[in-house]
Amino acid sequence: MKEKIEAIKTQMLEELSNVDDIKVLNDLKVKYQGKKGLITEATSMIKEVPVEQKKEVGMLINDLRNSFDEKYSEIESKLNEKLLNEKLSKEEIDISLPSYKINVGAPNILEKLVEEIETVCMSMGYDVVDGPEIEEDRYNFELLNIPKGHPARDAQDTFYIEDESILLRSQTSPVQARTMLAAKGEKPIRVICPGKTYRRDDDDATHSHQFMQIEGLLVDKEVSLSDLKGTIDIILRSVFGDIETRFRPSYYQFTEPSVEVDISCFVCKGKGCSLCKNTGWITVAGAGIVHPNVLRDCGYDPSVWTGFAFGFGAERLAMLKYGVDDIRTFYNTDLRESKVFDRKEQD
Ligand code: DAH
Repeated sequence: MKEKIEAIKTQMLEELSNVDDIKVLNDLKVKYQGKKGLITEATSMIKEVPVEQKKEVGMLINDLRNSFDEKYSEIESKLNEKLLNEKLSKEEIDISLPSYKINVGAPNILEKLVEEIETVCMSMGYDVVDGPEIEEDRYNFELLNIPKGHPARDAQDTFYIEDESILLRSQTSPVQARTMLAAKGEKPIRVICPGKTYRRDDDDATHSHQFMQIEGLLVDKEVSLSDLKGTIDIILRSVFGDIETRFRPSYYQFTEPSVEVDISCFVCKGKGCSLCKNTGWITVAGAGIVHPNVLRDCGYDPSVWTGFAFGFGAERLAMLKYGVDDIRTFYNTDLRESKVFDRKEQD
């Protein structure tokens, strides 16, 4: 038996060494390791070997199998390398062929503007939060101090979905109520919420039935109007650079006092031009100190907590910043327009 194994080994190694074709190599695998292969046959003969020789014969067969595997992979990689080299030497690369044209997109400028505001707010410790676009009347109006039948509702021509209790949110302010209720009146809040809003407006160059607002809310102890002014100043300067801000008294149901925020016209530097309608100022946001009724209804004790809130119209900011004169530009999905603005930015 031992001699037989030795003979198989010598023959096997010799045959493997002479192989110069992958097909012949595979045939040898069958010849030695196949179901009826020589190594398989030798293995099955172990049972006929006398007990005292079994161990030694077993080891020889193992050695036989390992030698085959080793030699096989050595030859296989040599042959594969040879094949590859042959293939490469036949291939030619024509460097004069024209290349493929790759269409590169550009970021949507509205998204870009929102991201810019998110970044500056996050640097001041704000979280970016989200809220549902299909909203309940309770959050969109009632908890914001706008009860049923109140004339303030008329200013926001709302899309109602079901019996006036479910609607498409007409502002991002309901996220204020949701955030306060979730915090259960127990901890300070600093959030912004950029998101889509809807009103029954006829679409034209400055109106869109779907538009975007960026809401901000801060609730803490001893918060004052000057904190609001400083915060809004930082945000607007990060978007428009070196501008002045102006706060005018205004009215919103959910803030008291309420203000309207203007920036000095960055085109004419306050001298008067068509962009600022010769006033030198452009209105960009509504804001104010959160009304005590809103704090109370949303679970915050107004004798302990105060807060401020603000709401930017995102398209308006983007239109001003990028010189877009039609709000529909943001929604007509024409890639060329994004690219034009992207290029302008890089100039
Ligand atoms: N939600 C208001 C609107 O749609 C904008 C606004 C004004 C938001 C004052 C605020 C705020 O948070 O404090 O016209």
